[in-house]
Amino acid sequence: MENIENNLKKAREYEERNRHIINDERKPLLHLTSPIGWINDPNGFSTFKGEYHLFCQYHVYDKIWGPMHWAHFKSKDMLKWEHLPVALAPDKEYDSFGCFSGTAIEDNGKHILMYTGVIKDEEKERQTQCIAIGDGLNYEKIEQNPVIKGDMLPKGSSLVDFRDPKIFKEDNIYYSIVANRADDGSGQIALFSSEDLKKWEFKNIILKCNNELGRMWECPDLFKLDDKYFLVLSPQEVEPQGFEYHGGNCNVFIVGNYDKEKFIFNKEKVEALDYGLDFYAPQTTLTEDGRRVLVGWVQSWENHITLKELSWSGIMSIPRELEYKNDRLYQVPIREIKNYYKNSISLEKFINNESFEDERLFSRTFDLNINLDTDNLEEFTINFAKNAKYNSKFIYKCKEELAIFDRNNAGIRKDCLNERKVKLALVNNKLNVRIIVDKYTVEIFLNDGYKTMTSLIYTDINANQISFDVKGSTNLSIEQNIF
Ligand code: FRU
Repeated sequence: MENIENNLKKAREYEERNRHIINDERKPLLHLTSPIGWINDPNGFSTFKGEYHLFCQYHVYDKIWGPMHWAHFKSKDMLKWEHLPVALAPDKEYDSFGCFSGTAIEDNGKHILMYTGVIKDEEKERQTQCIAIGDGLNYEKIEQNPVIKGDMLPKGSSLVDFRDPKIFKEDNIYYSIVANRADDGSGQIALFSSEDLKKWEFKNIILKCNNELGRMWECPDLFKLDDKYFLVLSPQEVEPQGFEYHGGNCNVFIVGNYDKEKFIFNKEKVEALDYGLDFYAPQTTLTEDGRRVLVGWVQSWENHITLKELSWSGIMSIPRELEYKNDRLYQVPIREIKNYYKNSISLEKFINNESFEDERLFSRTFDLNINLDTDNLEEFTINFAKNAKYNSKFIYKCKEELAIFDRNNAGIRKDCLNERKVKLALVNNKLNVRIIVDKYTVEIFLNDGYKTMTSLIYTDINANQISFDVKGSTNLSIEQNIF
């Protein structure tokens, strides 16, 4: 095996030499992006010493997926991120193929990372769980690694698909749930516990897929919101059903109850988390003021789009605050975004069967909040990232109660899935649409975040017009905040 011991130093030096790329003006303003090279999956989303830390899967040397390192960022508000030196590199025998996804906690003044160590050669491929402990800047992999191995799993469980540990601590015991493939070829979530982070024991399989929700499950997260427990998963190979689960790689949340005595997750209902074209591997953290905040990777594995001209690849979503009210999950952009508004315009207008634009409404870095009544409306369209050649659209069809995101005309040089739809019934005929566009990302929050649609558009950055088309009539209230 080639000498891998210096991989961290090598990666940090490479980053340092290529830092100038970090200031590419095409980078989104309020979204975490890859410093250089490639990023996927948020990792280790946590609070440490009063600041937020976010790591991600990182191929330092190229803008395509490769040997996985952990990139590292910190922030005071989850919107402006300071880039820190690479946190983990594949530099041990047990993670020589990569340091795959994982999570983090703050514990007795230390920052604990738990990740998947992967080995792969002609003879064998294995995924195991490992610990690294640090001070918010440098992390030391512990001697006992790998601390969780596949042979601790029930018989027949895959030793190859066994990854993405979510670590948490309760009543002085450390727990970790890990995604795994069961003997029927589909996902299962295994729970382990430890008193000292070094010695772990298998507790139970808390939930099994039984081939009912895709095949392998990736990136599990488990948390409590209101009185319910939530299991967030990224299932692979899900069969589309109606408007659900298109796009190849999916994201779901399962609402239910977690029995802490028997270590079982009792599932009550399953729903997609996001209905856009690009949203994967989300994970959450809890802020000090008690907000559960979720971040996802704005990209799709199977429907992957990139812009050849860029020397970096990978954008994370706007962090979203989660709330569970009246049996519904709401996701809203983190409230700190308001601190970045530079220019705000509000207008109200009655529109009757016409197209409407206002010379003050344009931008590629905006948070647009629209409210309208649908009593006499048939269809409402917002066009954005628009010029004479390109546009993307949000459409609401009243009779069908259907919301549509359409990037067919966004200038993508690839024949891929470009449209998603979601059923959206209205209460009292009121529609609320909030769209955040940050150069290449589009995040749509419908009816106060009850449904969300997140997608990429690599449209020429100069396409910045916004316009509206109304079939029928409505009172339109528009608030545009440019950041
Ligand atoms: C999800 C995923 C994880 C894995 C990582 C590798 O996107 O496939 O399951 O840990 O990416 O980069």
